[in-house]
Amino acid sequence: MAEFQTKYNIIDEKPPYNAPLKAQYKQGFAFYTMKERLPVILTQVIDQLSKDKEQIVEHFGEMAREELKHAIGEISKLKYELQTDKELKPITSSLGDEELWNTFLETLGEENTYYSSCWIYAETYMYRRLNNIFEQTATLKKLDYFQQQKHKTLTNSYGAISAVLQSIDVFNQNYSRNETELGAFFIKMLKLNLWGNRCDLSITAGQDVKLDGDPFSLLESLDSFLISDHTDVIWQCVKNSKDGEIDIINDNSGYELFTDLCLADFIIEHQLARKVNFNVKAIPWYISDVTPKDMQWTLDTLSAHENPLIAAFGKRLQMRFEAGSLDLKAVHNFWTSPMEFHRMQEFSPELYDDLTKSSLIIFKGDLNYRKLLGDFNFPYTTPFREALRGFEPTNLCTLRTVKADLICGIKEGLSEQLFAKDDRWMVTGEYGVIQFASK
Ligand code: F6P
Ligand code: MG
Repeated sequence: MAEFQTKYNIIDEKPPYNAPLKAQYKQGFAFYTMKERLPVILTQVIDQLSKDKEQIVEHFGEMAREELKHAIGEISKLKYELQTDKELKPITSSLGDEELWNTFLETLGEENTYYSSCWIYAETYMYRRLNNIFEQTATLKKLDYFQQQKHKTLTNSYGAISAVLQSIDVFNQNYSRNETELGAFFIKMLKLNLWGNRCDLSITAGQDVKLDGDPFSLLESLDSFLISDHTDVIWQCVKNSKDGEIDIINDNSGYELFTDLCLADFIIEHQLARKVNFNVKAIPWYISDVTPKDMQWTLDTLSAHENPLIAAFGKRLQMRFEAGSLDLKAVHNFWTSPMEFHRMQEFSPELYDDLTKSSLIIFKGDLNYRKLLGDFNFPYTTPFREALRGFEPTNLCTLRTVKADLICGIKEGLSEQLFAKDDRWMVTGEYGVIQFASK
């Protein structure tokens, strides 16, 4: 380790405040991610591909055999680059984001390696390069190397899914058109959605996530883990803009996507917006993030389920998509770019303009939170709006369980209390925030 530290300029300190997070700081989660988690993730992709070789060849044709072997070799090389702190080289791609990436990489100057660049740049780059390996092949362009794990997070959660649908049904059937009652249940739906973000696969380095029990009945007990709670203002915002559109910037597939769909369905059912848009990733991303294919598979799987409650929900969703009250927006490369959100207006003005038309944007999950803050280590009491650094396309909120060592908008003294209880509290996903900034 001492040799590693000297060779790659690792500093045995916590990341300083008011500076970008970097893997260079040994006492930060970025270091642990770069040194331990990401190599494990790449190794698991290799293992999975080797295990599934025959199935893949069967599906993609005999030519895929050689290409798969080559791809595995390329993933090993990528892992070596990461482990030896190499430069983030330009990419060659026909997915439409080559220029954005390469212009961006040029701006890094000397801080252009895995440990010296800002954490979000390096981690995002790894996932982009991983996909690039498959993009370069003739037969495996469409292979989603995370697909199996993603599918399992839905199929492992049917007990919880059915319990959630039952509770929503009970509310819908007994609802007496009282706004306070609706507001209270909407807030529950937000919380249900927040805690659904505990189930991502990148934090468990791809290990299965299983959900047992009735998530609604757990909500109250989870309230003490909700350390910044703007749910009331979000409800005010939603109830005052009922004829607008709401955009969800999705995070993970599986149970979390199910909760996104529940929230969207509830919004449409109670006419809290005219339309809800989903914004998903163009390529396999941070293991469990939703791609258009995952969305389609989820809708098909729910609709064809043997449990009538789940099947009815799936069919209702499909109907709403057909009617246009739910919409899967065309994928945008910005969501899989390294850019912090405060640079969206400069780098993807058309996406920014499109989002300004929304009456509320709901950013899901830890990675989106990191991008909202730009992986910048703000003092933890910095107001949410200030941490957005001018990114204010419209009203926006974040539902995020805390899995990375950055946060803003929490009460003075709270982080000290939480560190005294558990010095890993920022990376366990146990705590959550629901924060809002108005236009
Ligand atoms: O910090 C842990 C981590 O795996 C990060 O790499 C990433 O920001 C995040 O969790 C992924 O979580 P989510 O799916 O909530 O964005
Ligand atoms: Mg994710």
